[in-house]
Amino acid sequence: MARFTLPRDLYHGKGSLEALKSFKGKKAIICVGGGSMKKFGFLDRAEAYLREAGMEVRLFEGIEPDPSVETVMKGAQEMIEFQPDWIVAIGGGSPIDAAKAMWIKYEYPEITFEEMCKVFGIPPLRRKAQFCAVSSTSGTATEVTAFSIITDYAKGIKYPIADFEITPDVAIVDPELAETMPKKLVAHTGMDAITHAVEAYVSTANSNYTDPLAIHSIEMIMNDLVPSYNGDMAARDRMHDAQCLAGMAFSNALLGIVHSMAHKTGAAFADFGAHIIHGAANAMYLPKVIAFNAKDEAAKKRYGVIVDYMGICDKNESDSKKVEALIAYLRKMNDDLNIPHCIRNYGADSYPTENGFVPEDVFLERLPEIAKNAIGDACTGSNPRQPSQEEMEKLLKCCYYDTEVDF
Ligand SMILES: NC(=O)c1ccc[n+]([C@@H]2O[C@H](COP(=O)([O-])OP(=O)(O)OC[C@H]3O[C@@H](n4cnc5c(N)ncnc54)[C@H](O)[C@@H]3O)[C@@H](O)[C@H]2O)c1
Ligand SMILES: [Zn+2]
Repeated sequence: MARFTLPRDLYHGKGSLEALKSFKGKKAIICVGGGSMKKFGFLDRAEAYLREAGMEVRLFEGIEPDPSVETVMKGAQEMIEFQPDWIVAIGGGSPIDAAKAMWIKYEYPEITFEEMCKVFGIPPLRRKAQFCAVSSTSGTATEVTAFSIITDYAKGIKYPIADFEITPDVAIVDPELAETMPKKLVAHTGMDAITHAVEAYVSTANSNYTDPLAIHSIEMIMNDLVPSYNGDMAARDRMHDAQCLAGMAFSNALLGIVHSMAHKTGAAFADFGAHIIHGAANAMYLPKVIAFNAKDEAAKKRYGVIVDYMGICDKNESDSKKVEALIAYLRKMNDDLNIPHCIRNYGADSYPTENGFVPEDVFLERLPEIAKNAIGDACTGSNPRQPSQEEMEKLLKCCYYDTEVDF
């Protein structure tokens, strides 16, 4: 038996933030990040709409990018005091993910972070509050997914919390919020989205329900991401839908080892100033993982189907040629979006540089541990090929040096 779960309601299109006016309840807490939503007026609008709905509103502000366990615990405490019946998270993946984890702790104050991380082990929520997510970036699609990514900075590891219990009740996908994104954020979140769609399509948990979402989203992203990056606002608006479709696919089909590696390298070199941004990590690793996974016949065929839909290679060509075309296409997207191809070239502000943040000796010293953690990541199980420790180390080396994956 397989399960397909999405939010009960999804409001989309310009102005859909107004849907908050129709919410029924007494108290709402709005969880938000460091300031962009306030600066551009979306926070005030959300607050006003909820008040118009007759609710008492409290704000939990300042959720940092890649939220920490500590922030989750602090926000949950605030919720326990305030007793909201709506949690409205507004912003990028970070505040929404943090709010999802706070929600769990609010409903079950005794639960520990370790218990939350047990895959599909969350007890029933919605005894105290319902959850609405309003996304302002076009990538994570956390507004429709069963996931939340929380970072344990003491360990330097990102932990995915995964359970359909935390799939929001309501998603608001209003492209106006995405229009204020700076270019770099467009690039990173957009590559995150295409990675979601590609990984979902070749995942061992793919299904007839997730395939069309993944494929359509890939077609949209290939047409719209680079123009959106270059300032085309109609493309920007479409990207907001495209990333959400990818989210619907991967929330139900799961992901693969691009994400396992991104989760486990993201904070691993933080002491060298190299916070490897999630979307940039995915963009660098995806072509390598495609080459690795394509050694599996079923996955290779599926990459071939993706390429047929993308129309970037003659349909009569072999699947191997199609895989090559896909890899070349994705690498070109990285170039167009000013994203490096490998960790060695990952420099200041995430831009490509000759000498990146992560020194070679440090990378090699930490490699066995990172590879082990990546294998143990919740996203590895649904990858079409299960890597051994040796293979994962080799793959990560290819992601460091930008060398060919021939194993
Ligand atoms: N839950 C999931 O399913 C899922 C999937 C992929 C990634 N993630 C996680 O999500 C996090 C990344 O989220 P993200 O990429 O959305 O970025 P983010 O939420 O970390 O935001 C990054 C920065 O962009 C700013 N910002 C956000 N929206 C803006 C806008 N419209 N205009 C101007 N500035 C804006 C924020 O203030 C912040 O400084 C990571 O922790 C990642 O691991 C979660
Ligand atoms: Zn992602």
